[in-house]
Amino acid sequence: MRRRTILVLGLVALAAVAAACAPNATQSALEPKGPYAQESYDLFVPVFWVAAAIFVIVQGLLLFFAIRYRHRKNRTDVPPQVHGNTKLEIAWTILPTLILAGVAVPTVATIWDLAAEPEGDVLQVTVLAHQWWWEFDYPDQGIITANELHIPTGRPVYLTMCAVGLGYEQQIAPSTCQEQPAAVGNSVIHSFWVPELAGTQDVIPSRTTFLTIQADEPGTYEGQCKEFCGLSHAYMKFKVIAHTPEDFDAWVAGQQQPAALAERGGDAAAGQAVFLGTCTGCHAIAGLEDASGNPLIANGGPNLTHFASRECFAGCMLPTTDENLRRWLENPPAVKAGSWMPDYGLSEQELDQLVAFLDSLE
Ligand code: CUA
Repeated sequence: MRRRTILVLGLVALAAVAAACAPNATQSALEPKGPYAQESYDLFVPVFWVAAAIFVIVQGLLLFFAIRYRHRKNRTDVPPQVHGNTKLEIAWTILPTLILAGVAVPTVATIWDLAAEPEGDVLQVTVLAHQWWWEFDYPDQGIITANELHIPTGRPVYLTMCAVGLGYEQQIAPSTCQEQPAAVGNSVIHSFWVPELAGTQDVIPSRTTFLTIQADEPGTYEGQCKEFCGLSHAYMKFKVIAHTPEDFDAWVAGQQQPAALAERGGDAAAGQAVFLGTCTGCHAIAGLEDASGNPLIANGGPNLTHFASRECFAGCMLPTTDENLRRWLENPPAVKAGSWMPDYGLSEQELDQLVAFLDSLE
């Protein structure tokens, strides 16, 4: 019985350790790839070792005393009792206080440091947390994108973040991040986390929060909403794509171009008509107009101007392929639980046309 318990406990421990070994685990705060993540890491390491030392000392003493003074058959005398020993009481009150104070000084300094608005050549990005995808607006560049945050390397990016959607009892929930409140999805708490570039920051309805991120090297850094926000919380992912400054400028220039609408023919043109008839209640594309000749305004759904340039969609749940797009458009809630985009009952032909249209949005 005892051997079996030990065997089971051993297997559970092994499984727990093995679960931590993922060769492709990219979301690791232990591998900082920028100065802000580095600063958190530089605080974490000494605090971890202080905690580890205390753990070993306390547990070691506990084990030592439990074994050394355990009950034995012919042991009848009671060891000396130290309850009420004033010197001991004072010592083990003061010592932890000093240790905690020692940890608090660099912790508070780091918190202030990371919370400060960066100065100098800073890229401003507004982050809107929708149910369940991320919108990234570049106010100075006039770019709106979704699920992929493109940044230049070596430059701080200051994120101004709001949770958007409808508030309690479907009331319009005001947000300082957008002029027109999103009317699709609920405004709920989210948390923005890209572990290799910064710590987490909650995104909270009717409040504005801020976070600075920066990447040293070009690359793709995986992000994830880290606060439970409803059915598809686990599929509220995003990518931070860091470019060299030159490549970033090229990306900005590309995104600032309107989608090449005039050159479209065949299925793509037909798909544009389907889009204008079905999708403009929520989605916008720069350069297209509604029936009354007004520019489209995104109302809770992603701005799709350069959709085909994005590697992923639906909160980065799916890579952008024709097959995935078709499956998605056919019945979004069947693909992503709780999706606010309904099944529009599109015909096979309309699905093909819409996919062709979206493919053309380079
Ligand atoms: Cu958004 Cu979890």
